[in-house]
Amino acid sequence: MTGWRPGDRRADAASMLRVDQAGEYGATRIYAGQLAVLRSNAPESKLIARMAAQEERHLKRFNELMAERRVRPTALQPLWNVAGFALGAATALMSEKAALACTDAIETEIDKHYGKQLVELGADDPELASDIAEFRDDEIEHRDTAREAGAADAFGYPLLTATIRAGCRVAIELSKRI
Ligand SMILES: [Fe+2]
Ligand SMILES: [Fe+2]
Repeated sequence: MTGWRPGDRRADAASMLRVDQAGEYGATRIYAGQLAVLRSNAPESKLIARMAAQEERHLKRFNELMAERRVRPTALQPLWNVAGFALGAATALMSEKAALACTDAIETEIDKHYGKQLVELGADDPELASDIAEFRDDEIEHRDTAREAGAADAFGYPLLTATIRAGCRVAIELSKRI
């Protein structure tokens, strides 16, 4: 990979990889926080454990690509470690439905984020694009799973999801830059 400069027509794949790895890492931390709080026999725990396993797979793949391409991770990794876990634990403490609303909100933003990246990448980086496209399908499935399981029944759903979505957008912008 040659260095990308602002104004280059080619997509900045290194920056994309950095933010995507940060996002998948954050996702594993959110689910870890939720699973730490939820009763293990709650139906939501089963759903969340399955989604968490998929996030682990996404993260592992981006870790591999970063190592191959010598892309540094975001310096904010320690923050996402704590903030992700805290968000997961806090939503699970509110209720099972709030935990699902968190997934609903996050995956809504990640679907949009991955969609934008695929447009930007175009035909520039088929290897990265195919991973993003595959993971995006998983994230859409997570969002739909959360909705079907009653995410919208969470107390204060509109405000809760709007707040989490805004936070997610901030995290994306910070991870691109730092
Ligand atoms: Fe993921
Ligand atoms: Fe996901």
